Amino acid sequence: MPIKKGLFVSIPHIPVLYREVVSAFEGCDEGIVVDCTMGYGGHSSLILDSYPHVKLIGIDQDQAAIDFSSKRLAKYGDRVIIKKGRFSEVLKEIFQEVDVSKISAILADIGVSSLQLDQGKRGFSFESDVLDMRMNPDANLSAAEVVNGYSQKALEDILYQYGELRNSRKLASVIIQNRPFYSAKELADCVKPFMPKGKKIHPATLLMQAIRIEVNDELGELQRVLDVIESEDKLTCKLGIISFHSLEDRIVKQRFSSWSKKCICPAEFMRCECGNNNAKGKIITKKPLTAQVDELKNNARSRSAKLRIFKREAL
Ligand SMILES: C[S@@+](CC[C@H](N)C(=O)[O-])C[C@H]1O[C@@H](n2cnc3c(N)ncnc32)[C@H](O)[C@@H]1O
Repeated sequence: MPIKKGLFVSIPHIPVLYREVVSAFEGCDEGIVVDCTMGYGGHSSLILDSYPHVKLIGIDQDQAAIDFSSKRLAKYGDRVIIKKGRFSEVLKEIFQEVDVSKISAILADIGVSSLQLDQGKRGFSFESDVLDMRMNPDANLSAAEVVNGYSQKALEDILYQYGELRNSRKLASVIIQNRPFYSAKELADCVKPFMPKGKKIHPATLLMQAIRIEVNDELGELQRVLDVIESEDKLTCKLGIISFHSLEDRIVKQRFSSWSKKCICPAEFMRCECGNNNAKGKIITKKPLTAQVDELKNNARSRSAKLRIFKREAL
């Protein structure tokens, strides 16, 4: 399907891999789709348009996203319910509130939206005059607390693990020596000379990403939402997860792999004693789906997006 000209004009965020998401959810038409990361309603509206009988529950922790999507999705009337909160918590509540057997698909497009990145006052961009980066502006931990309050060792670990920055020790010590910082711009300018020189990205991108992942506990949230999905035995649905970071993709890949195993006996067992029927469903995408050339041209964010799909089956 070619990208239609003008499809996302005036929308602050272009949904990534949207054709792949829509075709992955084929067959979900009679049920409820949960969009865990509704953002600006891009994927949600395409799903609602493509599958006219679908009801959709959209979740986001950012009030700005909720306000935008409430207006954008208003035309679908009672086909849409919007909930504010962390997706790991809200999804758990949804499982208690609705008939779980009616849920036909769950989508999570992990990470930040273009609008969050572009709005200077949110502090996600290196041009920003503030140091914040909270997806939910009411949350307790902000980038200022991480950057100005964490120990050298804690900063080093974050930069190494989440930013995959080999010189994390040096960077952490530069931050400690020059803090306090009051804006993302100040921080980015200070670390710039010590950052690896990437051709396509701003030198401070990986450092900002690492701090953002910490502030929003992004990996913890992903693990928790997968726990919620794993423990709901009445669920039969497609699950699509889009990630932008290799650590996130690894978490999704490993979880899908463990869910697909029929036998859960310890490796040292000579014979299967578990019944060999413990699979929670099957992997649909052996390799993650990535953006096609035309999408890469139209949407730079799609560059690092990976979509994995799992078919969850009730036990
Ligand atoms: C990449 S954007 C999603 C864009 C959306 N798919 C669209 O097409 O407009 C991610 C959104 O998920 C939200 N988000 C990220 N992590 C979240 C979490 N743990 N709980 C709730 N919302 C989250 C962010 O606030 C952001 O609006």
